[in-house]
Amino acid sequence: PGAKLYSANCQSCHQATGQGVPGAFPSLTHLDKVVQAKGGREYLIRVVLYGLQGSLTVEGKTYNGVMPPFRQLKDQEVADLLNHVLTTFAKSKAKPISAEEVKAQRAKALSPQEVLKSRPPVK
Ligand code: HEM
Repeated sequence: PGAKLYSANCQSCHQATGQGVPGAFPSLTHLDKVVQAKGGREYLIRVVLYGLQGSLTVEGKTYNGVMPPFRQLKDQEVADLLNHVLTTFAKSKAKPISAEEVKAQRAKALSPQEVLKSRPPVK
């Protein structure tokens, strides 16, 4: 189910294989490092629910863009989507993200700038 959600909601910016567009839309292939870092699971869920805005550096390239929020997706859909991205593009073996973890982040009402502040320090 995650693959369909990805092509419908994310692919236009992050591209079919998650490689992004250097300098405009970051690649998603490094996300195993993010999900394994302290606070990384929460951060990835927040990016999808609340969007992201501000300067971040991913694999040596700096981005200063705006990603829109996807709060219309259900908790299970956010989990499916992130698990697809993590296993397919990032080759991650991390424990799958659950709908319960998504629900806990949805209660927070964060701004896209606050989401960026919660990013673990991963290049
Ligand atoms: C950043 C995932 C849709 C544009 C990110 C990051 C993730 C992500 C995880 C942060 C990467 C990191 O911190 O290392 C997704 C997913 C999407 C989605 C799963 C589908 C629900 C989109 C769309 C756009 C977009 C449709 C363009 C309209 C961006 C931009 C950034 C970003 C510009 C960097 C923001 C900044 O510079 O602060 N995305 N994305 N994303 N995404 Fe998305």
